[in-house]
Amino acid sequence: MPGGMHGRSNAARLLPRAARAATSVPDAPGRAARVLLGISGGIAAYKGAYLVRRLRERGIAVRCAPTLAAESFVSPLTLEVLSGERVYGQSYLSRDGGVDGAELHVEAAQWADLLCVAPATANTLARLSLGLADDFLSTTALMFEGPVVVAPAMHDAMWRKPQVEARVEALCARGVEMVGPVEGALASGERGLGRMAEPETIVEAVCRKLALPEGAAASPAGPLAGWRVVVTAGPTYEAIDPIRFLGNRSSGRMGFALARQAALRGADVTLVAGPVNQETPEGVRRIDVVAASEMQAALEQAAPAADLVVMAAAVADYRPRERADRKLKKSGADGMVLELAQNPDLLAGLASLAPEAMRVGFAAETHDLEDSARGKLEAKQADWIVANDVSRPDIGFEATDNEVVVFGRGGAPVRFPKQSKDELAGRLLELFAGGGTVSS
Ligand code: CTP
Repeated sequence: MPGGMHGRSNAARLLPRAARAATSVPDAPGRAARVLLGISGGIAAYKGAYLVRRLRERGIAVRCAPTLAAESFVSPLTLEVLSGERVYGQSYLSRDGGVDGAELHVEAAQWADLLCVAPATANTLARLSLGLADDFLSTTALMFEGPVVVAPAMHDAMWRKPQVEARVEALCARGVEMVGPVEGALASGERGLGRMAEPETIVEAVCRKLALPEGAAASPAGPLAGWRVVVTAGPTYEAIDPIRFLGNRSSGRMGFALARQAALRGADVTLVAGPVNQETPEGVRRIDVVAASEMQAALEQAAPAADLVVMAAAVADYRPRERADRKLKKSGADGMVLELAQNPDLLAGLASLAPEAMRVGFAAETHDLEDSARGKLEAKQADWIVANDVSRPDIGFEATDNEVVVFGRGGAPVRFPKQSKDELAGRLLELFAGGGTVSS
C-alpha cells in the first residue's frame, strides 16, 4: 500500500501494470522485434553477452556481429548460444561464408529492426561515421536503413579528443542515438568518462527507439507488483582534481540488496548506484553515477514517478569548492587547505521532487542513534529512517550483515536483529509496503 498509512493516495499505481515483455514492433504485429548487435573490440565487449541476455528477456530477437577484434574478448560460440541465432563472423566474404551465395550484409541489414553497436570503440565510431565498409559490421551498418543506437567505450582521453567528438557529432546529426559513455573505472585502472553504459541502460534506449514498453521485467504476481521503486546505493565521490576525490567507505551492499529484493517481489526497480563493485541485480534498471550532483540529476529523472524512494546511498555532505582541471602539485611543507562547499540534501529534496512517494532514509551513526535518527526524520521530511550503528565492525558499511532500528512518523521504533543484508532488505520492504506491520 504505497503511502497508505501516510494519508497519500497512490491507488492508481497499485494496479498491476500490463505485461511488459515486448514482443512486437509497430509495423510487423505479432513478430518479435529484431536487433542486430554489433560488438567491437574493447574490454567492454564481454558485456555484449549480458546485453544479449537482457534483450532476449524483453522478448527481442538478437543476432550478433562481433568484429574480429571483439572475438578476442567474447567468443562467437557464447554469443550464438545466448542469442539462439547465427553469429555474423568475419568469414562472411570467404567462399563458404555466405549461404547459397547470399550476401550476408544485405540479409542482416534487412533482417534487423534496429542496429545497436555496443561497445563502439573509437575506431568503430570513426568507421561508422565516415561510412567505411571494410568488415561485416561497417558494411552492414552502411546498408542498414533503420534506427541505430551506439554505446561508445574508450579511455576518457580518447573520448575527449576533438577528432572523436567530430565523429560523434556527425553520427548524432544523422539521428544515431548515443548511450553513454559513463564515468567509472576504466580498463587502464584509472577512472574517467569512457566506460560503456550498463547493458540495462542500453536496453532501455533500444526499447525506446523501437517504441517498445520500457521498464524492468516485473513479476506481476509479486507483493510489490505495480510499485515503482527507486533505490540509491553506495558512496558518492567528489572530485578534487582529475585523480583525487573525497569519498566514503560505503560498499553499496544494503542498497543493492534492497533493489534485488524489491525486483524479486515484482517491483519496477531503478537503482541509482555510486561507484561500487557490485553486480546489477536481475531485472533492475541501473543508473551509474559518481558525484552527488549526478545522483541528484538521476533522481530528478526517476523519483517523480516513484511510489517508494529509498536513499541507502552514503551521499557526501561536502564537495571541494573548486575542482582542479589538472593534478594538484605538492607545494611546500605547510600543509594545504581544501575549501568545501555543501552538497544539497537529496533526501530532503525528495519532499518537493516526489511528494507522493514514500521516502526512506538511512542514518549511519556512531553515537546518539535514536536522537539523531528522529532529528533526520523531521529535518528531511522522511516517512522512515533506518538507523544503524556504523561504529560496530560486525554490521555497517562493508559487513555482509546489518542490524537496524527503524523510526517512522508514528508508533514505536521497529527493531530488526542482526541478519544478512538481503534478508533485512526483504523485511524492510515488507515494513514499508505493509504500512507498519512486519515480521522482524
Ligand atoms: N543524504 C542525502 N543527501 C545528503 C546527505 C545525506 O540524501 N547530502 C541522505 C542519505 O542518503 C541518508 C540520509 O540522508 O538516507 C542520512 O544520511 P547521513 O549521512 O546519516 O546524515 P546527514 O544528513 O549527512 O547527517 P550527519 O552526517 O551530520 O549525521
